[in-house]
Amino acid sequence: MVTKKKQILLNAFNMNCVGHINHGLWAHPRDHSDHYKTLNYWTSLATTLERGLFDGIFLADILGVYDVYQSSVDLTLRESIQLPVNDPLLLVSAMAAVTQHLGFGVTVNASADAPYIFARRMSTLDHLTNGRIGWNIVTGYLDSAARGLGLDAQVEHDSRYDRADDYLTVLYKLWEGSWEDDAVLADKQKRVYADPTKVHPIDHQGQFYRSQGYHLAEPSVQRTPILYQAGTSGRGRQFAARHAECIFITATDKNAARATTRTLREAVAAAGRKPDDVKIFLGMTVITDHSAAAAQEKHAEYVRYANPEAGLAHFSASTGIDFSRYDLDETIAYGASNASQSATQIAQQRGWTKRQLLQELAIGGRYPVVVGDAATVADELSAWIDEGEIDGFNLTRTVVPESFEDFIDIVVPALQDRGIYKTAYAEGALRRKLFSEGDRLPDRHIGASYRRPRG
Ligand SMILES: Cc1cc2nc3c(=O)[nH]c(=O)nc-3n(C[C@H](O)[C@H](O)[C@H](O)COP(=O)(O)O)c2cc1C
Repeated sequence: MVTKKKQILLNAFNMNCVGHINHGLWAHPRDHSDHYKTLNYWTSLATTLERGLFDGIFLADILGVYDVYQSSVDLTLRESIQLPVNDPLLLVSAMAAVTQHLGFGVTVNASADAPYIFARRMSTLDHLTNGRIGWNIVTGYLDSAARGLGLDAQVEHDSRYDRADDYLTVLYKLWEGSWEDDAVLADKQKRVYADPTKVHPIDHQGQFYRSQGYHLAEPSVQRTPILYQAGTSGRGRQFAARHAECIFITATDKNAARATTRTLREAVAAAGRKPDDVKIFLGMTVITDHSAAAAQEKHAEYVRYANPEAGLAHFSASTGIDFSRYDLDETIAYGASNASQSATQIAQQRGWTKRQLLQELAIGGRYPVVVGDAATVADELSAWIDEGEIDGFNLTRTVVPESFEDFIDIVVPALQDRGIYKTAYAEGALRRKLFSEGDRLPDRHIGASYRRPRG
């Protein structure tokens, strides 16, 4: 019997802004990221990604501004380092209208809106995408966001996850428990749209959130959207083990990826789920062309437009450390931070100085970079999957849409030839496509415990 090889999952990693990860490339003559304000930019990208059979587009987002580096927002504005930034959720309907299978993983901070409001927004998108919506649950890392939301500073790191736990409980009650599956009759003869005996108010009195009432939307294909999470501090891993179905990680080498993946899968099993109940995606930058030499040339050309200092300013905001205060070769006191602990993990382990950070962050940000022709890239991605024990990649953009088009035209056929990438989409909702089970949360997921018992 021939066993099917493990299939690589692929998301395009993007953001509703100009400069996302590979800072400075917005100034490249072939880059169109400054068209992010137009619908056509997003609909044509979605069509391109579906042509390449991408599982999804993963949209990052941030509330707040990057003002840690030099205690200023000046470089952030000059280089457009995730500022200006538009709302990612509002892109989904347009992209869904021109595609049939592409999934959407959208980042939304779990403290910005009341869960009652957010639950309806996601249900609406699950209806309009016919079950293709996912949510990347983030808890934030910027004091500037907290100030924008009316606080003096952000809530303490672990408490942010405690609040998010409570937030998710309200959402599960609304998404899974408020409307029974057969509540909607839409019976014109009997004049009954919904059966009042099958729609139930929730009553949540949690440590951080209170909510009483009915979910405003009727049940959608997936009910609960696919739940993504990114953040691998100790508390972050615990949160992921309980809630996440997809986890987005960083790692600079395959051993580090494997260590993170194993720790995460053990935590998932300890939470009463199967270790494979989570799909793990690694951030990755690929620069490719039809020959090895042309790919190297393209990389060199991109480097000429990259702005390593902008990468450092981004990293300052992620870690909460103002690197402008350090000399190039001075030892950096990484220490405990109230920002993102995942961000500091690698730099701290490697003891990176500012000089090294500038090199590392120039192209690729915190993610590994692969440069080469089709065979080299396909072999390398395959090795990351096998040795890193991950499931797929969130591919950063360099020059857009060029980098996604290159990947689709050059690398995808090589992955398909190796039997490690699909040649057609599976049917069904995003959850069914990713896990080959049902459209809804599996019974062993914590969210399923908020369903009403049948009958
Ligand atoms: C790979 C990765 C991607 C992330 N993307 C976002 C994002 O788009 N928006 C955001 O607000 N936070 C993002 N975060 C931050 C985390 O979701 C989390 O809130 C933060 O890292 C603090 O948690 P931690 O200490 O567990 O890492 C990301 C983190 C990682 C590791």
